[in-house]
Amino acid sequence: MAQLSLRGIKKRFKSVEVLHGIDLDVKDRELIVFVGPSGCGKSTLLRLIAGLDPITDGEFRLNDKRMNEIAPSRRGIAMVFQSYALYPHMNVYENMAFGARLMGLGKAEVEARIGEATRMLRLEALLERKPRELSGGQRQRVAIGRALVRKPQLLLLDEPLSNLDAALRSEVRLEIARLHREIGGTTIYVTHDQVEAMTLADRIVVMNGGRIEQFGSPRELYETPANVFVANFIGSPRMAMLTVEREGNRLTAPGIGQISLPRLPSSRERELLMGVRPDGMSISSGTRQDGFAAKVVYTEYLGDSAYVYVRMGDGAPVSVRCGPDTQYAPDTPVTISVEPEKVHYFSRETAQRLAV
Ligand SMILES: Nc1ncnc2c1ncn2[C@@H]1O[C@H](COP(=O)(O)OP(=O)(O)O)[C@@H](O)[C@H]1O
Ligand SMILES: [Mg+2]
Repeated sequence: MAQLSLRGIKKRFKSVEVLHGIDLDVKDRELIVFVGPSGCGKSTLLRLIAGLDPITDGEFRLNDKRMNEIAPSRRGIAMVFQSYALYPHMNVYENMAFGARLMGLGKAEVEARIGEATRMLRLEALLERKPRELSGGQRQRVAIGRALVRKPQLLLLDEPLSNLDAALRSEVRLEIARLHREIGGTTIYVTHDQVEAMTLADRIVVMNGGRIEQFGSPRELYETPANVFVANFIGSPRMAMLTVEREGNRLTAPGIGQISLPRLPSSRERELLMGVRPDGMSISSGTRQDGFAAKVVYTEYLGDSAYVYVRMGDGAPVSVRCGPDTQYAPDTPVTISVEPEKVHYFSRETAQRLAV
């Protein structure tokens, strides 16, 4: 069992603070993903949980026991690093056995656990090989196997798939989700890839600049992003974001157009940010009264759908999800309409979500 509670966690390297007070509660058996841009503090936070670096300020409790001063080896945690860190002079079997033996397990128990991990990760044919005789994906699986034989109550994975090609990445990703359920422990998985986060996680921690922007299920983050950062970071292609002025029920984007919507945020701010995902907009030819004027940039055909990229005013291109037969020539003038219930509103001042 592994249930985590982080309170006011700060981390400083010399005088530079890189985590600014992290509060987080993780339930037993959850698969949690830390996601955010490079340098936002994901690995640092994971290393504090593992005990590899000291916590500067705040408290980390595991199953209600304070961990700050507990050595890594006594936390019941296993960590898989981005760089694998396999022992080069040991073969696959020895690599997996090493940590388990250090735990003081008997020979038979070590063998049984390696057998199990080997089957799960399909490493049977590779046990005699040294790391240099393995492909990147195979090394990856050995690194994961080495963590699994310890049957950790808490498994920490730091960008474990970053060196795999796309096809293998989605395969190993499925495997990790399955292993997580089989072990029945708690898993924390770090990635900068929002698609990986969305497909794997029970709940996602979105980090930015050493802070948590939002913590919630993939659906919550997609449907109710707490702020502009999360709205932009989650979802691909990204959400269109327009600055609009409100007057009654009418929203005007200066120089682009205006629309009337039945329900607007109760906040009084005259200027709002309005966000709409590609599936919340539709496109029609020519110029119309109610809608936003745009020009087609290009059309991306995906087989089952097409994304038409358009430019409104002098903004960056935004994408509109359309049927697969949609085809507009570049520079065609079009009108963008929005589905009222798919519009997100944010404060221009605070960038926080505004409730409707
Ligand atoms: N040992 C260290 N000494 C000094 N600064 C560090 C150290 N480790 C990480 N940092 C800094 O902390 C910030 C967060 O880094 P990191 O946690 O590795 O980000 P992420 O894993 O999200 O890409 C970065 O600005 C990084 O330069
Ligand atoms: Mg990192």
